[in-house]
Amino acid sequence: METPLTRLVGVRHPIVQTGMGWVAGPRLVSATANAGALGILASATMTVDRLRAAIREVKSRTDAPFGVNLRADASDAGDRVRVMIDEGVRVASFALTPSPELITELKEAGVIVVPSIGARRHAEKVAAWGADAVIVQGGEGGGHTGEVATTVLLPQVVDAVDIPVVAAGGFFDGRGLVAALAYGAAGVAMGTRFLLTSDSTVPDAVKARYLAATVKDVTVTRAVDGLPHRMLRTELVDALERSGRARTLFQAVRRAAGFRKLSGAGWLRMLRDGRALRHGKDLTWSQVLLAANTPMLLKASMVDGRTDLGVMASGQVAGVIDDLPSCGELVERIMKEAEEVRARLAR
Ligand SMILES: Cc1cc2nc3c(=O)[nH]c(=O)nc-3n(C[C@H](O)[C@H](O)[C@H](O)COP(=O)(O)O)c2cc1C
Repeated sequence: METPLTRLVGVRHPIVQTGMGWVAGPRLVSATANAGALGILASATMTVDRLRAAIREVKSRTDAPFGVNLRADASDAGDRVRVMIDEGVRVASFALTPSPELITELKEAGVIVVPSIGARRHAEKVAAWGADAVIVQGGEGGGHTGEVATTVLLPQVVDAVDIPVVAAGGFFDGRGLVAALAYGAAGVAMGTRFLLTSDSTVPDAVKARYLAATVKDVTVTRAVDGLPHRMLRTELVDALERSGRARTLFQAVRRAAGFRKLSGAGWLRMLRDGRALRHGKDLTWSQVLLAANTPMLLKASMVDGRTDLGVMASGQVAGVIDDLPSCGELVERIMKEAEEVRARLAR
């Protein structure tokens, strides 16, 4: 199925596996790429050296194009961009709006720039700065998320910009892909659905929690880092919401110290990144400090398998997903169903 996305990036299918911290590593990304979709490596939880090694690992497993997701506001974003350019990465994906300078640098090096956005005005801004496409995430999506549902946000963004728009938030099957195309999107991007594959390295006990979840078990909370964050409701989320400010802060500082070691960030860089995160938002310094909480709480579940100690970021779709196909099986199934739906509609 050819769309402006498949033509732009050179993949076979208009499906993207998004960059999820601790989840979208070399194994998932290369399995997605080999299935003919666009896999995106999550880099915010890696040191710059680890990022280079991870990119090389993906390249050793596939010749297909893939992308890297990075935080545009990280103070070492420039170093990460240079690694991507050196290593010939096809697509740069951003969790927050990248600067015009960063977009220009990437484009001049031949890298395709695809920021993720959650509001029409952000899409308009990055399109004016030269972004090649956008991923637009509606409120049903997992991780940090907005309030506006995909069904409202997607047509709004499609009407506002001339670049390809990839729909995210709530997609898991072929019907969803055809619906997104009907809205004028160039494809779909999925996080939770790819987390729940046999190629994802997330521990089995954690996958089991997602599979058991109903749509009502997925919630949005600000208790982790002050920003609206969609995840499975667990005892930990309840406890974080109940616990007092002083206790939450104390724990956040401890976890921030752990994140500092793992991500290779110094305290100064973490403070700078925190200030960037705070910029333009109504966040207190304590909430900024809590931001380093998120990666550590995600790691506890996604890497260490601790469903009791970790946060399980999730889209509402977790409530309707009940199997763990390989990436190859998943992509093939979605494309087959999409073709059937299109044929049925044509009849
Ligand atoms: C476990 C998990 C971790 C995530 N981590 C990130 C991240 O590090 N950076 C980012 O831009 N988005 C992140 N997201 C959001 C996804 O990239 C994607 O936009 C979202 O999952 C789409 O909605 P869906 O889950 O309904 O498919 C994460 C989502 C999940 C479920």
